[in-house]
Amino acid sequence: IRHLLSAADLSHEEATLILDTADEMARLTEGRAVKKLPTLRGRTVVNLFFEDSTRTRTSFELAAKRLSADVINFSAKGSSVSKGESLKDTALTLAAMGADGVVVRHSASGAAYRLATSGWISANVLNAGDGTHEHPTQALLDAFTLRRHLGDLRDRDVVIVGDVLHGRVARSNVLLLATLGARVTLVAPPTLLPLGVENWPCEVTYDLDAALPGADAVMMLRVQRERMNAAFFPSAREYSRRYGLDARRFSSLPEDAIVLHPGPMNRGMEISADVADNERSVIVEQVTNGVYVRMAVLYLMLAGSGTGSAGGEDAA
Ligand code: CP
Repeated sequence: IRHLLSAADLSHEEATLILDTADEMARLTEGRAVKKLPTLRGRTVVNLFFEDSTRTRTSFELAAKRLSADVINFSAKGSSVSKGESLKDTALTLAAMGADGVVVRHSASGAAYRLATSGWISANVLNAGDGTHEHPTQALLDAFTLRRHLGDLRDRDVVIVGDVLHGRVARSNVLLLATLGARVTLVAPPTLLPLGVENWPCEVTYDLDAALPGADAVMMLRVQRERMNAAFFPSAREYSRRYGLDARRFSSLPEDAIVLHPGPMNRGMEISADVADNERSVIVEQVTNGVYVRMAVLYLMLAGSGTGSAGGEDAA
């Protein structure tokens, strides 16, 4: 894998290889039995974050360190970006320091593509979220979490609920889950669906109550108030009433269905606190799994090998 820019770039075979490799990373490092693998010793990973992040940035950092890579964390806040430095000059500066892999989050859709295809840098580029476009490693960690609980995702029913328009998680999840053979239903108010959603490989409905009883998993999306203008409709209260996952709706799910949320959550808006903290909520586990999945992606991209062991035998 040269770059990871979109979930659409992954074939079934490639996605399965990443998830299987993440399983191996988990097996090797879960419970910290093995603290570090030596596989990326001498490689440098740059976390280039022009937008805020808690989970993605820290888990990429932890993943790279667990593979023994050197890590440079770049945040636009406090950098020369605030003096007007462009994406190109920022990238060139970091490339001059010898970056092998660049993990980029940016508010502009397409920023990761620009970095990967511009010729400015030769590093492998990983999209850690670009505008309202894609967040492929989030989709991979969600698929990993689903697979751990549900097994093979073929013909499983996954319901994704909420702000599809302003988010990037839904698009990446729909594309990846379709590749893995799952059936996806998107539930959102019409005002929070993007143009062209009818061409996505999923069902679309406005009726959450009708979708829940057949779900193997339900993924609640954050309402991205920071990307909305005053025209946001329905109101926060109306949204919560019609599209929020509360205890009553939770009780209409099959008894072994699980609840996901990519975080950060708006408790009391798209998900009630009691559902978020329920034992069938796997939201905290998603964060842990994000480290394994990002270890797998970094390993497959930067160690230059798509096959074989993740290096457990040599583990330090
Ligand atoms: N899910 C996710 O991308 O979270 P962060 O914004 O905290 O990275």
